[in-house]
Amino acid sequence: MERTLVIIKPEAVAKKLVGKIISIYEDNRLEIIHAHRVLATKEVLEKHYEAHKGKDFFDGLVQFMSSSEVVVLILEGENVVDIVREINGATNPQKALPGTIRYMFGETIEANAVHGSESVEAAENEIAIWRDLIRFES
Ligand code: CMP
Repeated sequence: MERTLVIIKPEAVAKKLVGKIISIYEDNRLEIIHAHRVLATKEVLEKHYEAHKGKDFFDGLVQFMSSSEVVVLILEGENVVDIVREINGATNPQKALPGTIRYMFGETIEANAVHGSESVEAAENEIAIWRDLIRFES
């Protein structure tokens, strides 16, 4: 079954938006098979964001994502990667469509409430990267 990884970012956790964000996924009939609140290590984040290494925002992004706790979710279902990306909305909250999570809760391109895997391959890679930190079965 297809899986995807969502990270509820530090500012959204600090603003107590976890319940609201999880409800949006569940209201779209998605299955949350794992949820874990954790302070991400730079080591895990550098692997998670490896595709962005060398970009001017990389160091700031790793710093921000490790600044306070995040909530890592694993969701499962048919076509879940694309469905979650649609629900999350565009990376830049200013470009996100009304009704999407980033439109409603995103502050900046960095503090954009949630991360969602870009592809099935990226999702499995990210789940493997976070496994050490969030410990789950299967
Ligand atoms: P995320 O889904 O977590 O994956 C990569 C992140 O890089 C992205 O969301 C943004 O929060 C962050 N980011 C910061 N600056 C930029 C930028 N200029 N362009 C794209 N992504 C950016």
